[in-house]
Amino acid sequence: MTIVLGLQWGDEGKGKILDVMAAEADWVLRAQGGNNAGHTVEIGKEKYVLHLVPSGILRSDVSCLIAGGAVVDPSGLVKEIEGLTQRKIRTRGRLHLAAQAHLVLPHHRAVDQGSEKRRGHGKIGTTGRGIGPAYSDKAIRVGLRAGELALPPAELARRLRERVTAHNRVARSQGWEKISATQTVREMAQAAKFLRPYLADGVTLAHRAVASGKRILIEGAQGTFLDVDHGTYPFVTSSHCTAGGACTGTGVPPTAIQRVVGVLKAYTTRVGGGPFVTEDGTLGHLLHGMGREFGSTTGRARRCGWFDAVLVRRAVQLNGVTEMAITNLDGLDGLEKIPVCVGYRLKGKILSEPPVESSDWAKCRPIYRVFEGWCEPTTEARHWRDLPRKARIYLSAIAGLVGAPLGIISVGAGREQTFRHG
Ligand code: GDP
Ligand code: IMO
Ligand code: MG
Repeated sequence: MTIVLGLQWGDEGKGKILDVMAAEADWVLRAQGGNNAGHTVEIGKEKYVLHLVPSGILRSDVSCLIAGGAVVDPSGLVKEIEGLTQRKIRTRGRLHLAAQAHLVLPHHRAVDQGSEKRRGHGKIGTTGRGIGPAYSDKAIRVGLRAGELALPPAELARRLRERVTAHNRVARSQGWEKISATQTVREMAQAAKFLRPYLADGVTLAHRAVASGKRILIEGAQGTFLDVDHGTYPFVTSSHCTAGGACTGTGVPPTAIQRVVGVLKAYTTRVGGGPFVTEDGTLGHLLHGMGREFGSTTGRARRCGWFDAVLVRRAVQLNGVTEMAITNLDGLDGLEKIPVCVGYRLKGKILSEPPVESSDWAKCRPIYRVFEGWCEPTTEARHWRDLPRKARIYLSAIAGLVGAPLGIISVGAGREQTFRHG
């Protein structure tokens, strides 16, 4: 069993790598997160952006599970399934929704958006999809789970009304929008009818797949430094995006994992607030000018910066990465000089590990080692040996700096623009 997850701040190209790897898989299990994720897969001229549905859905012989560690916006999922159906992607019988997954309800979105407004300059920059409030209801044990969509409609309505009433009681004082219980009940009744055939016991399904020797990929969402425990807190999401979260989210034990593929960009991006030591406006300008690095969920321009080896080294440790999949190498094709951050400077000290506090992290200054650019396109490369020598030096140096072997290299969004190292 293989975990595929992000080693930076999300949007590393997990969707693309999963789609490539799913050619040799039977199951893809999405472990955590919600429709804050946007995983892009390009197949020929077709472009798909998946939010909740695992990327394996685009391979007709692969089965998919949205596992219990995920949070599911029922109407959002219905829309996503309908979008796939319109594009002739079959989901019935192939896509399963764990009854254990918690629901994201309209009032969670109201809390998310209202709280962000209140935070003003200190805002997290969330996707506004209600993810944090849904996970917090789960943690304080008042959340509704996907399995409850199968309840008799009157009982589901009663439980929904109770939650919405509790929200509305405090909404005004908190600066949150009030929510109509009637509308919520109507919306959820519709979604419940649509989603019921997809419901399953996620843990039993996962373990049956394991027991029958199926080849399984666990799809992580977000990235290591958005992990609620290990990220740049509080500028994080509300789930565990690291390898441990892949196990908790699916119910698959750590002893069943053989391989952890860490996906990362050849540079760094992040969306939303929080520290970003290697952020560089000029690189951002260049990449945005090429039409790259706009968020796949919110369309926001991503912040861009140089490769940060301090950050990724920590991600390799946290996740037990057995190999890396480096994407977007082609983004650096036109550059004469490529800095890589090999250490941080903070208050006169040199750090080789990130500081604990985000406020310190934000004060760190990068120590760069500058690599020579290759100044030629890599997008046509189909083997390691096709890459310019300087690109090979750059990638090998990164692997050495972060302490994990190179596995997959990606030089474009297409399936065919992917090859193995060596
Ligand atoms: P994810 O959230 O990790 O799945 O990543 P996103 O899909 O949000 O963002 C990655 C973006 O990079 C998408 O637009 C992909 O199509 C694109 N992409 C992935 N790998 C490559 C690559 O090697 N080169 C280029 N040019 N684009 C890539
Ligand atoms: P994928 O799976 C990049 C970021 C948001 C914000 C923070 C909290 O496509 O890599 P949230 O809505 O989760 O409460 O927002 O996390 N964020 C992501 N950034 N890629 C993602 O997913 C993200 N999901 C959340 O921008 O900074
Ligand atoms: Mg994304």
